[in-house]
Amino acid sequence: MDLETLNQQIAEIEADVAKKVGDMQAVDALRSLDTSILGKKGTLGSLIGGIKDYPPAQKGQVGQTINAAKKRVKAIIDARHAALKQAAVSADSAGAMAHDPTLPGDRPTMGSVHPVTAVQWEVERIFERLGFTVEAGPEMESEYHNFEALNIPASHPARDMQDTFWLTNGSVLRTHTSPVQHRSMKKFGAPLRVIAPGRCFRYETIDASHENTFHQVEGLLIDKDISIANLIAMAKTLLNEVMNREVKVRVRPGFFPFVEPGIELDMNCEICDGAGCATCKRSGWIEVLPAGMVHPKVLEAGGIDTEVYTGFAFGLGLTRLAMMKYGIRDIRVLNSGDLRPIVGRERQGGAVIVSREP
Ligand code: PHE
Repeated sequence: MDLETLNQQIAEIEADVAKKVGDMQAVDALRSLDTSILGKKGTLGSLIGGIKDYPPAQKGQVGQTINAAKKRVKAIIDARHAALKQAAVSADSAGAMAHDPTLPGDRPTMGSVHPVTAVQWEVERIFERLGFTVEAGPEMESEYHNFEALNIPASHPARDMQDTFWLTNGSVLRTHTSPVQHRSMKKFGAPLRVIAPGRCFRYETIDASHENTFHQVEGLLIDKDISIANLIAMAKTLLNEVMNREVKVRVRPGFFPFVEPGIELDMNCEICDGAGCATCKRSGWIEVLPAGMVHPKVLEAGGIDTEVYTGFAFGLGLTRLAMMKYGIRDIRVLNSGDLRPIVGRERQGGAVIVSREP
């Protein structure tokens, strides 16, 4: 066939393809069109076999003409193929196939342990290593356990130190975990090492550093030759371990009817690093560990032989310690039950300020 006829034939094939492709709705049909045109035996493909019949001078040009035509046809078919695919995707995403299994899934929101609980567990582990057992006492306490057994008789002015929720049955909501001291002495005798974490209640006006419901860990160690030096050493070990570093502490005298002598052990305020802020009432110090040598009257009430034994006791402020550890400035968030997801955390000095979804 001469070149002119060849060109004409090619033009016809191309026109035919363009027409057919426009009507094609299925990818499969497109594929068979592809083979019937471009395949070895296809209308265009088979023309290659005819090149050998041309005079040598024309062979090159014929080959180029056919190949160029094949390219154009392939482009038309490919374009239609892409359009069909795109249409299928949009149809799917509007319909039943809207699920795209290749997208990453939604993460379920996971809960976590409350900061006070987390620190409580940590404190328990530390004391267990020091040979202490973990005890619990009731939150509804008798007046005897909460006060009398701790050398706070009814007429004692120290009862005013702790504003108490009195219940109609004559019991109280315990104002501290110290009643567990007496209960443990009665239960185990001496020598003795116990801690008693738990919730305490005071009739207080709530503000950034006061709650009517808070947590303490009572500690009691009774043995031979126990001194206040043992108490201070143990308190420092505890604070350093919980805070994971050397914590600055100071010791002041403090009065509690159930200890003699009594101390207040303060730690460096971790919110402002001692500079003074609202949380530490501008002092740079946080009272975390009131303590002292157990008063002989308390030992006697617990049936302990004061000729043989001495002991120390402390009332670790667990809520305050959790605030220091996690940089929580306002005690009120701890009981607020605010479950809105946290969307941001920002460090400001020692504190972590969290922002929540509105
Ligand atoms: N129970 C005291 C309080 O809550 C703290 C304390 C415990 C003090 C043990 C000394 C010894 O204030």
